[in-house]
Amino acid sequence: MTSLDRREFLLGTAATLAAGSARATGTSAPAGRRAGYGCAFNLWDLEADPGLGKAVSQYCTQVVPECELKWPMLRPSADKFSFARADAIYDFARQNGLTMRGHTLAWYHDIPDWVKQISDPRTAEQVFVDHISTVVAYYRDKLTSWDVVNEPIPDNARKPTDRRDSYWSKMLGDRWIPLAFRTAADADPSVKLAINEYDVESVKESFLAKRAAFRNLIQTLLDQGVPLHSVGLQCHLHGELEVDTDGLASFVSELRSWGLEVLVTELDVIDNQLPGDVTLRDAIVARRANDVLSAIAASGPLDSILSWGITDRHSWVSQQLPRADKLPNRPLPLDANFQPKPFMDVITKFAKVA
Ligand code: G3I
Repeated sequence: MTSLDRREFLLGTAATLAAGSARATGTSAPAGRRAGYGCAFNLWDLEADPGLGKAVSQYCTQVVPECELKWPMLRPSADKFSFARADAIYDFARQNGLTMRGHTLAWYHDIPDWVKQISDPRTAEQVFVDHISTVVAYYRDKLTSWDVVNEPIPDNARKPTDRRDSYWSKMLGDRWIPLAFRTAADADPSVKLAINEYDVESVKESFLAKRAAFRNLIQTLLDQGVPLHSVGLQCHLHGELEVDTDGLASFVSELRSWGLEVLVTELDVIDNQLPGDVTLRDAIVARRANDVLSAIAASGPLDSILSWGITDRHSWVSQQLPRADKLPNRPLPLDANFQPKPFMDVITKFAKVA
């Protein structure tokens, strides 16, 4: 598609969706909780911005801590578990009748220095197992699901058997993944256990290769009888890329045929390559969200849609992927004034107002 066709196409899209958004900014996006919809946030923002708690309570039925269940927060040192910040988010959820899920127990990123200084594999394994069993047991019967393993596939996967190198893979070999799941299942046999990945949704050669490796890993884990219940598709969509609706729909359909639940775990649309015009940009953002949710909903229920943040006021995209034109990023369903955008219309379409 030439850039001119693309612009025509996007303008066409914009026209349709802008028409919709006109309705939406007429707040056709009714207030009210969306069944199965939720978002991530961190405690700093929740404590600093009362509008955030209000919006979460108004639109969501579930939440996930953005940082508070990760190693740096939970494990300031080898002899310490600090649950206070994650507990504060859990208490907020309870007080507002919301459920909570956990993110994340084993990841190549966010590994504290005191861990990385461990050079003996046996000690590393003990620390790994101790962390997972202690944290999962602490939240037993409190969380709906856990991202046990996060981002196990490299961005430049070349073959389906490729796996991301990490401190854990270096210390424990490939068995770090099954070990994480089995340890979590032993600590809480009833909580759903998920594997979570990004950049497997859009049309791009490296994304298709990454999805093939993710599929291969999931199949391998199931063949090994590993207690894997759910697959998390992060859906940090790149606004400038088409969603691979057919490829994604058949991938999701196959996962469901294997008995797995499919979750949308970190939905947002990275808009730093999109036109500056707000109506056009919001329309494209809504379009990408609509395409990915349609593809995932094509073969079964979309019971859980989490966005990574809910308002443009608080988003990692603004911190890590700002726009060259310095215009504020607009990656989320509510704008920086907590007003619903066409993106929230899309959420409402797939997660009915309860
Ligand atoms: O520790 C500081 C603290 O001292 C400071 O007061 C506070 C104020 O903002 O920031 C604190 O920590 C930062 C934290 O974000 C909160 O903003 C951390 O330094 C920073 O590393 C952390 O980044 C998070 C990142 O994961 C790493 O954990 C982002 O918020 C979070 O959005 C991002 O989320 C990841 C998912 O877990 C996995 N998928 C991709 C997604 C986006 O990168």
